[in-house]
Amino acid sequence: MTDTSSTVNPYNGKPFSSKYFKILEGRQKLPITEAKDQIQRLVRRYQTVLLVGETGSGKTTQVPQFVLEMNPEGAIACTQPRRVPAMSVSERVAEEMDVTLGDEVGYTIRFDDVSSDKTRIKYLTDGMLLREAMTDPLLKKYSVIILDEAHERTVHTDILIGTIKELIPKRPDLRVIVMSATLEEKKFQKYFVDAPLIHISGRMFGVEVYYCRAPESNYVEAAIRTATQIHLYEGPGDILIFLCGEDEIETACERLQNGIVIAEHSSANCHKGPVAVLPLYSSLPPQQQKKVFRAVPEGTRKIVVATNIAETSLTIDGVVFVVDCGFSKQKVFNPKLRIESLLVTPISQASARQRSGRAGRTRPGKCFRLYTRKAYDTLLQPQTHPEILRCNLGSIVLHMKKMGIDDLVHFDFVEPPSPETLMRALELLNYLKALDDDGFMTPAGDQMAVFPVEPEMAAMLIHSPEYKCGTEIAKICAMMSVQNPFIQNNKEFTRSNYAKEQFYHQTGDHLGLLNTYLAYEANDGNIDWCHENYLNHRSMKQAQNVVRQLVGIMRRLGLDMSSDSSADMQFANHIRRAIVRGFFTKVALALPTKNQFITLKDDVKAILWPATFLNRRPQFVVFNELVLTSNQYLRTVTAISDDWLLESCPEYFAVDEFEGVTRQVFEQLHRRQKAEQAPSKKRARAVDVVGGDS
Ligand code: CDP
Ligand code: MG
Repeated sequence: MTDTSSTVNPYNGKPFSSKYFKILEGRQKLPITEAKDQIQRLVRRYQTVLLVGETGSGKTTQVPQFVLEMNPEGAIACTQPRRVPAMSVSERVAEEMDVTLGDEVGYTIRFDDVSSDKTRIKYLTDGMLLREAMTDPLLKKYSVIILDEAHERTVHTDILIGTIKELIPKRPDLRVIVMSATLEEKKFQKYFVDAPLIHISGRMFGVEVYYCRAPESNYVEAAIRTATQIHLYEGPGDILIFLCGEDEIETACERLQNGIVIAEHSSANCHKGPVAVLPLYSSLPPQQQKKVFRAVPEGTRKIVVATNIAETSLTIDGVVFVVDCGFSKQKVFNPKLRIESLLVTPISQASARQRSGRAGRTRPGKCFRLYTRKAYDTLLQPQTHPEILRCNLGSIVLHMKKMGIDDLVHFDFVEPPSPETLMRALELLNYLKALDDDGFMTPAGDQMAVFPVEPEMAAMLIHSPEYKCGTEIAKICAMMSVQNPFIQNNKEFTRSNYAKEQFYHQTGDHLGLLNTYLAYEANDGNIDWCHENYLNHRSMKQAQNVVRQLVGIMRRLGLDMSSDSSADMQFANHIRRAIVRGFFTKVALALPTKNQFITLKDDVKAILWPATFLNRRPQFVVFNELVLTSNQYLRTVTAISDDWLLESCPEYFAVDEFEGVTRQVFEQLHRRQKAEQAPSKKRARAVDVVGGDS
């Protein structure tokens, strides 16, 4: 911490505000403060230092400042696995240092950069630092790199750790600090053999853990009930509830806010008092996210309903009670089916312990687990599997290749991914022509890697000029990359649906999204217009920002951005052909029964997402997402012509690649195409096709 007697801020020469001193007082009480000298000493002596400490001990906010005081030459990067903490922590640290966010302290997340040349401490997502490593493999800009939340083991963190381990001998001046909660320290010690380990013991109070006697069939209901009971019958202290997703959280918040008042009326001997119920999840607008950190009036109980974002990376002061549903949404990749989905999955014992720990930060607390003791012992895995073992690696492999890491098999992974998953990624990139048959980066792959989007989307972007629709494809990509722009209002269902209908396109969702974007542009991004038309203004604004960035990259790559929108339907066809050029591995065929489609090659049966614009059943659709819930849905779909499939990637659609019902269809398709290519024999072939049909 800066000299407390000084009244002038050394970073910007301005006098310190009174708020600065107030925050400083709190900072001096954090457990990490006692280890400051030790941290600085070890960082001076060793290139890599491991730092393990309880959540809330002050690692993320303080360590970059400790290092800054050592006056390093370059900037300090501090990586975060998630976007929200990167933003909120940088804001907090800017406050602590009494500087303007974006100046000495800043953040960079995908599509959003609040940093400048002045920035000395930059919080950024691990994905963004990987991106920087693509253009600057030695990461020369930074003299210190702090890999935070390493225990989360996101795929980006894992690759970053491997990359930086290779970088260390090439950059003797670089200092690396790997920080984590007390979960994976042994693994990291084995991986960074010579690095000293600093242990920060947090001041934790005891937490009593309660289990359910019998399994709960509906954890949302159980969470609402439990939180209500806590509010009525337990002493003061805030409540933190862990649920799985936005919908669940919003439902629970609404029900709690209303239900508690009713419960208070009907119970005689209970505590009665106001509550402030607040949601917390990553897609929540930043203004609303901030509310969870704010103090509530004396006597009001704060109830935060959060995803596992509040498990380790964010600390909410004042929590005394934790309600843990026992689940979280996790990425699960099935390499056989080539499907990646976010599934509600039981958490690990380690996660459960982390969650309960959140109750004992300021005084002894209680944790209510909405599952049985037996379930904890027998059903929960000891540790969460690292993401690299359960996600699609397409984009990561492309990035690694771009960084010049060609030998993936011998890359020093903290934990190597399964060969099958790696093969799937290489295969996809080969089909997309990003890698050649020997696995080397092609010029197209080189261009694709520059885009901060999935490889399929990048392929569609780089091919769009061939169809004279570069700008339109960038707009579609942007709309696909932001949070759902359509507000579904249950109370005003008809009106919100009616509003959506104006953007309808007969071919389906991709062009529907484009229509929506064009209408937004035509109305100058007006916020009132968005509200009237049930559009999420924040999503639309974000999309506009994404368009600007994608178009910027396309121009820099020298791609032709002229559009030929003369003939309406023909132009729509061009756009759809460009989409297929990127997404031909995500195509489904209509089955004769039950409105079902079947995905090609993986043979997963699914129906169209109910809110789709597509109101007919074409033979083929291209889709963006396969959603697995109680049902299987194809989301963001567009009708396509079979001709475009063979044109997009002949090898992928070779007949031998298919089995069963899809094989028949492709046999016909190939026969028909051959017939069309040999005009003199057209008649005879046409008969053939009919023959094949019977
Ligand atoms: O990284 P670690 O979990 O060890 O702790 P931290 O994120 O650095 O948080 C240390 C303390 O800073 C917390 O206990 C909060 O009191 C405070 N903090 C805050 O008030 N607002 C934030 N956005 C982040 C942290
Ligand atoms: Mg932290």
